[in-house]
Amino acid sequence: MNWDDDPTGTPAPDRLVGPVADREDQAVEAALRPKDLGEFIGQEKVREQLDLVLRAARARGATADHVLLSGAPGLGKTTLSMIIAAEMGAPIRITSGPAIQHAGDLAAILSSLQEGEVLFLDEIHRMSRPAEEMLYMAMEDFRVDVIVGKGPGATAIPLELPPFTLVGATTRAGLLPPPLRDRFGFTAHMEFYEPRELERVVHRSASLLDVEIDPAGAAEIAGRSRGTPRIANRLLRRVRDYAQVKADGIVTRDIAAAALAVYEVDARGLDRLDRAVLQALLKLFGGGPVGLSTLAVAVGEERETVEEVAEPFLVREGLLARTPRGRVATPAAWAHLGLTPPRSAPGGAASSAQQDLFGA
Ligand SMILES: Nc1ncnc2c1ncn2[C@@H]1O[C@H](COP(=O)(O)OP(=O)(O)OP(=O)(O)O)[C@@H](O)[C@H]1O
Ligand SMILES: [Mg+2]
Repeated sequence: MNWDDDPTGTPAPDRLVGPVADREDQAVEAALRPKDLGEFIGQEKVREQLDLVLRAARARGATADHVLLSGAPGLGKTTLSMIIAAEMGAPIRITSGPAIQHAGDLAAILSSLQEGEVLFLDEIHRMSRPAEEMLYMAMEDFRVDVIVGKGPGATAIPLELPPFTLVGATTRAGLLPPPLRDRFGFTAHMEFYEPRELERVVHRSASLLDVEIDPAGAAEIAGRSRGTPRIANRLLRRVRDYAQVKADGIVTRDIAAAALAVYEVDARGLDRLDRAVLQALLKLFGGGPVGLSTLAVAVGEERETVEEVAEPFLVREGLLARTPRGRVATPAAWAHLGLTPPRSAPGGAASSAQQDLFGA
C-alpha cells in the first residue's frame, strides 16, 4: 500500500510518484543507501553542519549531540541516521514513535543501549505523551524514572543511562512539542533536491543496479522525480524494465521519456491524478476560483485525495494556488497543459481572485 505524506492520512491510490515507500522500495532501498556523508548527495548545508557536529564529537571522544531530521518522505532521513551511526563508528538501534505506546516500552529500549549507541526514533511526532516525557529526561540527563507499582504506593526508581545519541526523524516538525524540539542539539531541515542533484542520485543508483544510462537519460528521470530521491530511484527501476524489454537495456533520454509516458508521469513529474485536477480546473472552471468539493466531484475523487494527494505538489510547483475563494490555476498551469488562458471572459480566468493573486 502506498500512503501519501502521513500514514495516518488518507490512503492514496498506488502512484509511481508517491513519496512514501512501497513494498518494493523497502526491499531495494537498503542496497541504494549512501553509507557515509561523502556519498550522500545534495543537502549541502545539512551535510556541512552535520559533518562539524560529528567531527567535533569524535575529536572530544564524546557522544554526538541529539539530532532531529525533519523533511518530507523520501528525502533521506533514515539514510542520514544510519550515516550518523557509521560516521561515529557506533551501533544503531531503530524504532519508531508508533512502536512506543507505553513509557515502559521506551524504558526497556533506553536501558539496553550501549554507551555511544545511536537510537533512531522514526516518526517521532507519533510517540505517546508519557513516552515523550520520559524521553525529555533521558535526552537531557541520561536518566529515566521507572515507575513501579500503581496509585499512592507507586514509586519512581531512577535509572542511569549510558550516554547515547538520539536521532529523531519527522515529516511533521510542526507537530513536535517545543520541549522536545528544544532538547535536540542540532536540527536538520531536509529540502527537496535540485534536478542536478537527482541526476547524480540516478547515476549512482544506476551503477549500483548495473543499469547503463547516459547523462540525458538521467536528466530526464531526475526532472520527473519531484525533488525526491526515493521517487528518482523508483522511476529508474521502471525505466530500466522498459529499456530491457523494448530496447537494448541502455537508458537514453528517448527511452526514459517513452517509459515514463507509459506510466503517465509527465515531463514535470505530474501523474494522471495531478493532470486530471489541473485539467478540470482549467477546462471546466476557466482556471477557477472553484471550491475543493466541486473540483473533487469533477475529477471523480474524494475531497481528501485531491487536497492531500494531488494539491501539495501542484502548489509547490506553482501550478495551483489555494485562495479563500477556492482553487485557482496559475499561468504556469495553462502553459504546462498547453492551453491558452481566456483573457477576460466574465467569470472566466481573469477573475478577481486571479487579479488579486497575479495582479493581472
Ligand atoms: N542524499 C541522497 N543521496 C543518494 N540517495 C539518497 C539520498 N537521500 C535519499 N536517498 C535514497 O532515497 C531513498 C529514500 O531515502 P530514506 O529512506 O532515507 O528517506 P526518508 O526521509 O527516511 O523517508 P521516510 O520519511 O519515508 O522515512 C533511499 O533508498 C536512499 O537510497
Ligand atoms: Mg525513513
